[in-house]
Amino acid sequence: MKLINPVKLLTDARTAANCAYAPYSKYRVGAALLTADDTIFTGCNVENSSYGLTICAERVAIFSAISAGKRKFKALAIVSKGKKSPSPCGACRQVLAEFSRNIPIYFASASALKKFRCIPSADLLPESFKL
Ligand code: THU
Repeated sequence: MKLINPVKLLTDARTAANCAYAPYSKYRVGAALLTADDTIFTGCNVENSSYGLTICAERVAIFSAISAGKRKFKALAIVSKGKKSPSPCGACRQVLAEFSRNIPIYFASASALKKFRCIPSADLLPESFKL
């Protein structure tokens, strides 16, 4: 797995979190995905009054990249606003496993970007489902 300098990616994820639509949980999340050709796609969580329709920031960023024809990724950054630092949900881990090789996932709270953690995507969902 190749590490990157995550400062720009984390900063972009924090900016994306400002766009989050999270009136129910009040938990705002932003994600920034770096593609193999060094393009960055961002996403934020978008909630719905029918709660199950909510989509996480990570999947918005991944689907946005896929929709633009980008399928190879180098790194993902996730930033949340509020006390609880982010950790991708099971659904996002499975979606990431579909498209990523083993890439670094950087996590941080918006208030402490420099205190980021890094986890290899392969460790997020061992034995993910693949056809
Ligand atoms: N959420 C994300 O966007 N990403 C995560 O990694 C975890 C959870 C969102 C979904 C929902 O809008 C809110 O956070 C609370 O679960």
